[in-house]
Amino acid sequence: NENKLQAIIGHCKEYGFVFQSSEIYDGLSAVYDYGQYGAELKKNIRDYWWRSMTQMQDNIVGIDAAIFMHPTVWKASGHVDNFSDPMIDNKDSQKRYRVDHLIEGYAETLDAEAGAAIIKQMELLLEANDFAGLKTLIEDKKINCAISGTCNWTDVRQFNLMFSTEMGSVADEANVVYLRPETAQGIFVNFLNVQKSGRMKIPFGIAQTGKAFRNEIVARGFIFRMREFEQMEMQFFVKPGTQKEWYDYWKETRMKWHLSLGIGADKYKFHDHVKLAHYADMACDIEYDFPMGFKEVEGVHSRTDFDLKQHQQFSGKKLTYFDTEINQHYVPYVIETSIGLDRTVMMILSEAYVEEDLSTEEKQDSRVVLKFPPMLAPIKLAVLPLTKKDGLPELAKDLINDCKTQFKCFYEEKDSIGKRYRRMDALGTPFCVTIDHQTKEDGTVTIRYRDTMLQERIALADVKKLVMEKIAM
Ligand code: GAP
Repeated sequence: NENKLQAIIGHCKEYGFVFQSSEIYDGLSAVYDYGQYGAELKKNIRDYWWRSMTQMQDNIVGIDAAIFMHPTVWKASGHVDNFSDPMIDNKDSQKRYRVDHLIEGYAETLDAEAGAAIIKQMELLLEANDFAGLKTLIEDKKINCAISGTCNWTDVRQFNLMFSTEMGSVADEANVVYLRPETAQGIFVNFLNVQKSGRMKIPFGIAQTGKAFRNEIVARGFIFRMREFEQMEMQFFVKPGTQKEWYDYWKETRMKWHLSLGIGADKYKFHDHVKLAHYADMACDIEYDFPMGFKEVEGVHSRTDFDLKQHQQFSGKKLTYFDTEINQHYVPYVIETSIGLDRTVMMILSEAYVEEDLSTEEKQDSRVVLKFPPMLAPIKLAVLPLTKKDGLPELAKDLINDCKTQFKCFYEEKDSIGKRYRRMDALGTPFCVTIDHQTKEDGTVTIRYRDTMLQERIALADVKKLVMEKIAM
């Protein structure tokens, strides 16, 4: 719901997770910066994905391709001609809308049955590229009239989502280059480089993470839809004819990855695509139940041999693989898994964010806590000396020095212990250790667990091992 979304946005700003880009200049729409804790969280999610998709897979390797690519790449991939969304402008408010967002927003104001009927009607019109029909639908339903005051629409037309710039001196012949709208093409054009240099045998995969850019028209939902964002993609190259089996395999494997984050199966669903992208023969989204409802977090696409064949044709270079088992050359088929890193951050935040009422009969109390899986938490361990004297800070710092080679620690000596615990709850720190006078006598400390708020005394010497066990991926 909207309240939860607003609460998360406020929390992210207050506690250093996510800031609006260029905030002191009133911000840049749909562009965000990660603060000190957001950057750690994002990195931990990226690392977890990278580990599961490369280190844990015998036949997948990772690369890091450049953002800029030869402009013909985007001709070949179809992005120059097809990577566009139907848009419509309100002539009076001068606001531009993505047609699907406009109609979806309207459908959400209706009851479930009527909403579904409108969505179905829209999908059929989109599939048929029936722009006049889409305009009529928007006008007939008086969509957005109440909000904008009028319904004076332009025609529906296509709007390309790629950003472009020029490479080299502007005085030279204008060399338009695009900021990549997906990381996938960097993998396709390197397919043979990796296959040959790595002596890879089909089936095998190439993974990468990196920035992608789209000139999204309606940017909504915080870091859900951004103009600059990060993708984590994997292209799995298979023998033609085996794509259905690998598509099913990756659908299941990726869903298992999501469940391994400790999120319940009821929070996910598959959504099969009716309207397929220009490159796909099967495609689905993995949807997560965000505060705004079920929305796509990841796509699994069977991209056929479309991309490699296109690059073969446009570059004039052969992109075939010789399969020694059947003694044949062929252009492999590709199954792609593509997940947005920022969207995953938002999913993890939505899942973790809890406002708990801790009131007792004596007093009212509450806390905001981020219940991150320990392996993803920005700070793993906070070490808190009870007082600033009597050698307690030194003991605390010794513990941090011992642990910080293995995981991120945090030292805090200001405020009461209770206040310090609450701050660590708000940052999602799973373990707090308090060093007190007893520590000096018997070498024990109090460890406090974020989720249960339970405390117990354990040996100072056991802290590092305990945390290491709990944060293991
Ligand atoms: N290579 C295939 C591809 O790019 P996509 O469905 O357009 O497919 C994949 O994008 C994922 O990238 C999405 O599931 C989403 O998580 C993320 N994504 C796409 N556009 C985004 C945006 N504007 N902001 C944040 N994440 C986005």
